[in-house]
Amino acid sequence: MIERASAWAPGKLILAGEHAVVYGHPAIAFAVTLGTTVQLARRPGHTEVEGCTAADAEGAHLIEADPRLLTALRAALPEQGLGVHIHTDLPVGRGMGSSAALAVALVRAVARLEGREAAAAECQARGFEIERVFHGAPSGLDHTVSSLGGGLLYRRGPDGVRWTRLSLPALSLVVIDTGAPGDTAEMVAGVRARRPAVDPVLDAIGALVPRVEAALGQADPSAAARAVGPLLTENHRLLARLGVSTPALEAAVALALDHGATGAKLAGAGGGGVAIALLDGPPDRLLAAARAAGFGAFPAQISPPESP
Ligand code: MEV
Repeated sequence: MIERASAWAPGKLILAGEHAVVYGHPAIAFAVTLGTTVQLARRPGHTEVEGCTAADAEGAHLIEADPRLLTALRAALPEQGLGVHIHTDLPVGRGMGSSAALAVALVRAVARLEGREAAAAECQARGFEIERVFHGAPSGLDHTVSSLGGGLLYRRGPDGVRWTRLSLPALSLVVIDTGAPGDTAEMVAGVRARRPAVDPVLDAIGALVPRVEAALGQADPSAAARAVGPLLTENHRLLARLGVSTPALEAAVALALDHGATGAKLAGAGGGGVAIALLDGPPDRLLAAARAAGFGAFPAQISPPESP
């Protein structure tokens, strides 16, 4: 019997289409090189989280203090016989898919303990069950990106989920972290409660996504940055009209645009979390300005697709 197993899964960033994707519109997202590792070890007694660490200590606390974690573990693990260690280098609760990465890493680690590798389809199916514990009624985008890696165009319609891999140009992207967590389930419920009044805004976000996809089709990263950037900013303005931006996210987007970004937007559910900024050139000036303004800031790197 295998005694220990460990697995990693990536977080994500949404380039365009969050919130609207919950209502059947398309979205574009990519897996990032930051992610979550789950280690499982057989031991006597109840299955328990024995340790939880994160790049920022507050992140570890946020995971462990989240009552949904135990429900999620119950959905994924046997009630008895396992010790669980979780480590994430993602900022937690900031729209970068930390719960989806945890869900997919759990599915992969359980499979390894059984002596096999979980296929992407299994990660998607089981990951969705776990992700629902955290997010209530998610679109499935986050854990699909985490399962498949790389860039994706994703849509969940009445006929099921459809996704297409996108090979993204070498974009220069900066994540600006407000440091404030947002609750995805709460933000999604808030938007739902404002329907149908906000449906025209959701439709406008959905209509932006094919334009972003076309702009991303430019092989030259500089041309792509100039074409995609303004669309990201337009997406941000629409998200603000949905009511999911915050003063800190507005400040992050304004700072990015003032420091050479071709476009910027909040990324994820909002209500806190991160903004992403697209640059036509190196990120150093923006990174320095964001840090000087008290934000966390780091370049975003795309995690390559998982082999099928
Ligand atoms: C969360 O990362 C993205 C949302 O669109 C919710 C979802 O897709 O489930 C806000």
